[in-house]
Amino acid sequence: MSFTLPDLPYAYDALGSYMSKETLEFHHDKHHNAYVTTGNKLLEGTGLENASVEEVVKASFGKNQPLFNNAGQHYNHLHFWNWLKPNGGGKPPGAIAKKIDEDLGGYDKFKEDFIAAGVGQFGSGWAWLSVKDGKFVIQKTPNGENPLVHGATPILGVDVWEHSYYIDYRNRRPDYLKAFLENLVNWEYVEKLYGEIK
Ligand SMILES: [Fe+2]
Repeated sequence: MSFTLPDLPYAYDALGSYMSKETLEFHHDKHHNAYVTTGNKLLEGTGLENASVEEVVKASFGKNQPLFNNAGQHYNHLHFWNWLKPNGGGKPPGAIAKKIDEDLGGYDKFKEDFIAAGVGQFGSGWAWLSVKDGKFVIQKTPNGENPLVHGATPILGVDVWEHSYYIDYRNRRPDYLKAFLENLVNWEYVEKLYGEIK
């Protein structure tokens, strides 16, 4: 199964000033598209041509770095577009809120720690809310890496590569992360992913 670039699940200008049309055009049409086209070239002859993106990510980790980088970023961005929605953000719905209370010390602590993970990821990478051994954990990874290769399943992730925020926020990564949680997160998609692994 070769990689394909999905359309955004909303209009390019749907996220307003929190994530501009210009950012989404560059990020989706140029950056994500490059991971798809480069990933497809690198898949040729690996024997992984018919594997799912998750399988390619796991199989290439530590073995084929160029393929891993592109497959990882394809997986990350497939979900990232769905982790955003117009008028999103705020407190999570019931089951997710309860689990955040149990495992992460409540929403306010989660918010603080998730933002700290994103700010603390030196250089490019991602911050995550993942499920590991049945518990919610906050993680951060460099470059195209993700929790799949660290024994966890991501249910929320935020891209902290500069291509995700520099047009709208310049160097203010903390402001971008705050806006992500307060105004952009699609908690219904988080709930859906969590439901699939229970
Ligand atoms: Fe990105």
